[in-house]
Formats: sequence, C-alpha cells, structure tokens
Amino acid sequence: MDSREIRARFLKFFEKRGHAIIPSSPLVPENDPSVLFNTAGMQPLVPYLMGTPHPSGKRLANSQKCVRTQDIEEVGDKTHDTFFEMLGNWSLGDYFKEDAIKWSFEFLTSKEEGLGLDPARLYMTVFEGNDDAPRDEEALEIWKKYMPENRIYFMSAKSNWWSPGDNGPCGPDTEMFYDVTERGLGDMTKEEYMAADDRQEVVEIWNDVFMEYEKKDGKVIGKLAMKNVDTGSGLERIVMAIQGKDNVFDTDLFAPIMEKIAQLAAIEIKDLRAQRIVADHIRTSVMMIADGVRPSNTDQGYILRRLIRRAVRYADVLGIGKGMLSELVPVIAEKYKGIYDNVAEAEGTIVKEIWEEEEKFRKTLERGTKELTTLLARGSVSGVDAFTLFSTYGFPIEMTEELAAEQGVTVDRASFDAEMKKHQELSRAGAEQKFKGGLADSSDKTTALHTATHLMLAGLRKYLGDGVHQAGSNITEERLRFDFTYPQKVERDVLDKVEAYVNDAIAKGCVVDKAQMKKEEAKAMGVEGSFWEKYPEEVTVYTVKDGGEIYSQELCGGPHVESTGAMGRFKIVKEEASSSGVRRIKAILE
Ligand code: SER
Repeated sequence: MDSREIRARFLKFFEKRGHAIIPSSPLVPENDPSVLFNTAGMQPLVPYLMGTPHPSGKRLANSQKCVRTQDIEEVGDKTHDTFFEMLGNWSLGDYFKEDAIKWSFEFLTSKEEGLGLDPARLYMTVFEGNDDAPRDEEALEIWKKYMPENRIYFMSAKSNWWSPGDNGPCGPDTEMFYDVTERGLGDMTKEEYMAADDRQEVVEIWNDVFMEYEKKDGKVIGKLAMKNVDTGSGLERIVMAIQGKDNVFDTDLFAPIMEKIAQLAAIEIKDLRAQRIVADHIRTSVMMIADGVRPSNTDQGYILRRLIRRAVRYADVLGIGKGMLSELVPVIAEKYKGIYDNVAEAEGTIVKEIWEEEEKFRKTLERGTKELTTLLARGSVSGVDAFTLFSTYGFPIEMTEELAAEQGVTVDRASFDAEMKKHQELSRAGAEQKFKGGLADSSDKTTALHTATHLMLAGLRKYLGDGVHQAGSNITEERLRFDFTYPQKVERDVLDKVEAYVNDAIAKGCVVDKAQMKKEEAKAMGVEGSFWEKYPEEVTVYTVKDGGEIYSQELCGGPHVESTGAMGRFKIVKEEASSSGVRRIKAILE
C-alpha cells in the first residue's frame, strides 16, 4: 500500500463513520500568532475544541500539513522529519473513549477497510494518573477488549499527557506503537518495551488524546465544558510501518527524493545522514513556499532560510552542484498532486525561491566559511563574531553553532542573543521613528518602496478591478505594508501578475512626474486616490510613465524616486486578510 492509498483509506474509514472530511489548513496558522507553523492536526481546531461549534459538525477528520523544527538536529536518523502530515479524527463533544479506541484498533488492523497491521506487533500506553487527572482505567478496560493486558503499559504525564502549549485544551492520551523489527519483539515487560522504544524498534503510530481538560499558563485548571477526542497519526510513520521499512526515508514518500539526490550527487553517496537531511529540508521548504512563506530573517521566513541554507551545506558534502537543489522540486510536487495541488501549481515560484536563496547564500558562503575557519582556529566564537557571521554572511546562528560544535568549539550564544536584541531594538527604534515621521522619512529605500506602492496599487486595480482602493499604508526601510479594499483572497497567480506589472515598470526605467493641479481636474483625469476630502484644493499628482505609457497616476504628497530604474526587484511576500473587506499585502524590494 502506498502513502496515497493509506491517506485515502483513513479518510474513507472515518467518513463512513459520520465524520466530515475537512481540508488541511495552510502550514502557517491563519489566526494564531502564538505558533509559527501548525504542529499538529488539532492546532487549527483549537477554538472548536474549546466550545465554538464547527460549521461541519461534531465529527471531523483530515490530513493536516504540519511542521516541527525543534528536533531539526535529529533529522537524519530513522524517524525524524521536519514536515509531516498528520491524519486525525475528532469528536467535538460527541463520541469519547469507547469509540475512539475501537476505531483506532479497527483501522490499524482491518484488512478490508484499514491497514491490516498485525495485532501481535502492536503495543499500547495509557495514562498512569497524577494530581491533574486520575489513572486511565477506563482506557485500559477498553483496550483489553482488543489486546492482551501485558502489552498495555501505564505511563506518566511526560509521555501520555498531550497539550499543544501552555494554554488551551489538553488531556491524557493513549498511544499506539508498532514493532518494526524483522524478528518480531513478542511480549515485553514495561522496561523491555521502553528500551525497544529507545532503540526505535517500536514506533509511535497513533495517539488518541481525550481532551476534556484545559491548561492556563502551563497549569491544568480544570475540565472543559465538553469531552473531546483528538487523534493524530503521523502519516510518514504509519507508511513506514505498512511498507515494512525501518526508516521513513525508504518509504514511497521519500524514496523518489532520495533517488533524485543520488542522481544529482557527483559521487557515490556514503553519507546517508547528509542525503536524508537534504531530502527532508528541501521537502519542507517546498511545502512552506507553496503555502506562501518566503526566506527572510524573521519568523517563518527565518526557519525556511535556515532549512534551505542547511540543505545547501549538506548538498556540498554530497557533491551536488550549484543550483541543482531546485531540481528536487518537481519530484516533490508530483507526490502531492491531487492532494495538495497548490504545490504543483506553484512549482515555478518554488524553484525560483530555492534557487535564489541558494544563490544568495553562496555569494557569501565562501567568505563566511573562511571567516569562521579563522575564528575556529582561534578556539572561540564570541557573540559579536557570530552576529557578524549572521548579519554579513547570512549564517543562521544555529548553523554557526553546528559548524563550531563539529570542531569542538562553543559559541557564546547568550552574547549573540544580546547582540541580536540590540540590533532589533535599533531597527525597531528606526521603524518607530519612521512611523512617527510618516512620509517625512525619505531614505532611499523607503522612497523606492513608496513608489513601488503606487505601482502595486495600479497593478492591483488593473487585475482586480476599479473597486480596489488604498485603505492604509505603512512603509519601513525593509518592506511595504499595504491595505486595500477587496472582498476576498487574492490568488497567487494574480499576485504574480501584479508583481510582473511592477517589475516591468522598474525594468523600463520609468520617469516619475510630479504635477500640481486642481483637485477637480485630477478627479476628472481619473487619477487614483483615497481620502480626497483630506487634500487641499490644489493637489500633487505623481505619474509613473514610460513615454506615453502610464503605469500609475496617483494623488500623493510624496516623496518618490525620480526614475524607477534603480529600485531593485519587487516581490509580494504575503497576502492576508486585514479586516472585513480589506486585504493586506507585504512586499519588498530586493
Ligand atoms: N494532538 C495529538 C498529537 O499531535 C493528537 O492529534 O499527537
């Protein structure tokens, strides 16, 4: 059975049992600033687990795209990966332990409807109890209907209590493990089972959380109004169990990527870990970019940057030539056709982003490596040095730490963090200054972004219609942020067109004309503007044009560049809802 079938069977199984199949949310949570990425299938469902009625009902199931990077250094072993899909079914105050456990067992073992796993290779854990909640005898009794008792182990909250963070729904869980050894482990005592777990001879393939509790500031404060079930099964691991592999990289989800890497490598691959790291990191990068993340120095963008740059380093170890990493993109896109179609649809953009990020990194990689080698030879890397490596050479701090650790050298992380904070405060102060000064700040970068904003608005109006007007604007040296009236999400292909429109005007080196005229005259000419009433009778109109071709004509106080020639390349990095009927775009000039 391949991954496609396993995913499909799961959804069908739960659909048949009254669950609505809901689509995966994007990797970046839409309304939850507390996490950078969805890390579990339940994350987008938190409000519903807390009591808000879900529009699709009380029984839900899906396959959710997730990213977890806290174990990034473990990638390369048998089971860790940074992107994964979580199969999950939920009861929002509907069925509870009895049905949840029964269906988990049925799905895992049924040959007709499920996965047909050998029950003699299954082991279960249940919660042993603590001050927050009692020992889960109920789960034990239910399991005993399906499993011999000596393969059900009571475990502490450390492993068998699940919560997505310090706040929100949580509860005890029961976890299902599968024996992936060739020989078969047979009956085991709890100690033997725990040792087998350490050796990755049994792998967790499913987790049923009985979410009836609530956490606040890290403490369990009591019960929720309803008893929920939140189950999660990592697709990669379950595929591994079904396909009889002892590691995820040999499953059909990774094998084609691993093969392509082997083809791209100049030499026969000896470093399996490096090959796995490249496969994992590029796959995750592809999924992130498809969901709108772009490499940058902050938040999600920084994680993406780190993944791509780390992949570049390991690609070098394997002798994979410059620019070749992006050749993995079509292989990955193929896997998700018909499942997450946005990956294949964005293939061109993804290739471009990975290629460009690699280019950017390579420009400084050699000099940065030289610099680091000198520092390592000295035997220490100070926080200031590490910061220079970050800011001048684009070395993510974690990468510097890893490279240093390989030579037995430590990096002064605390003083790096202090340095970073200082830098952030400086730029924040700068931004606030600018904000206070509004358009009075006329450094070259903000001026160019200001002109880009005009071109972008004209592009948006061209492709989305005359109903689009400015609703707000905020420009810093790094980026523009622009709110505009439009009732729905603007698709990436339209954003690409708008981008192309702006870049076309930049490429032509348009003249930016400034003219004074009467407000009425400007209105009659069809000049774009919002808040007309705020302007005096005599207004300033900026026109961006190439000969007779007008790219933008807008009411404005300025300042603007004189010619668009040297503005750089324009890129829309994010489009999102701002408020009802208003969308927000963040864009940059590179
Ligand atoms: N939230 C639980 C987990 O991630 C079950 O979905 O394992």
